[in-house]
Amino acid sequence: MNTKSPADFERFEQRLLSELMTHPVITDNQYCKWFAEADLSLEDVRFFTQQFSVFSNLFLVAQLYKTINAVDLEEMHAAKEILANEIGCIFNRRVEESAESKQRRLDNPDDEGDVDLVNTEGTVDGGTFRFKAAHFEWLLNFAKPLGLGFENMGKRKFGSDSTLFFCDELIRIYGSDEFSESAGASFAVENWAAAGFWKQLIAGLRRFKATYVPELKLGFFTWHDKVEDQHKAHTYEELKQLFFGPHDFDEERFVQSGYEMLDGVAAFWNGLNEERLSRN
Ligand SMILES: [Fe+2]
Repeated sequence: MNTKSPADFERFEQRLLSELMTHPVITDNQYCKWFAEADLSLEDVRFFTQQFSVFSNLFLVAQLYKTINAVDLEEMHAAKEILANEIGCIFNRRVEESAESKQRRLDNPDDEGDVDLVNTEGTVDGGTFRFKAAHFEWLLNFAKPLGLGFENMGKRKFGSDSTLFFCDELIRIYGSDEFSESAGASFAVENWAAAGFWKQLIAGLRRFKATYVPELKLGFFTWHDKVEDQHKAHTYEELKQLFFGPHDFDEERFVQSGYEMLDGVAAFWNGLNEERLSRN
């Protein structure tokens, strides 16, 4: 029997606001703030890209653990949506599309999977798989004009200690087989992502592109930013389902794991910040 009341949920929400949303990586991410405003050098963007590629690739491992450790079939499906989409399965519903974009797509069927055309909404169920729709391949396309190739990207051996700490924390907490732990980490990761870091990255990269590397393709970043804006709207409903849902919900563990996950996220960005400061 679930005896929780709406007032309990309100108190829980307040607790998240005061204990999780106040984490410095959400309220004051020094690296992203700097990145948005800085006159970025090639070296800055190369180091950032390589570390981001390691996170992006090893995130697949965490997402697979999340899938395997899902608490029920519904959660397993939700985890697979993300995993399959990451590796190249296209969401099968097109968002409002301009006539021009639609014509371009119909005229060039091989463009399917192109980051500038691909859906940001829908389900992978019944979606098409394209190698070129893998997020890692979008990142490779981004990295090319920076002089980085497949041989420099995505492997554990290229990760700094702080990047690897983040990746390992994702596997440990986000991929945990304890429901309240993985849910706390998911909540933390979603709120971190929704706090606007994609927009800060895009701002810095747009300036860098205009000044130094006009052929730079920003699709990887703009696509994720669009997705994040949609996620934000769902987070509250998901939280409610979790709180009142049928699974044994350990609030203490949820908050604790969320905080530890944010510490992992912070390690990643602080590592990038220390590296750039060490060069200036
Ligand atoms: Fe992605």
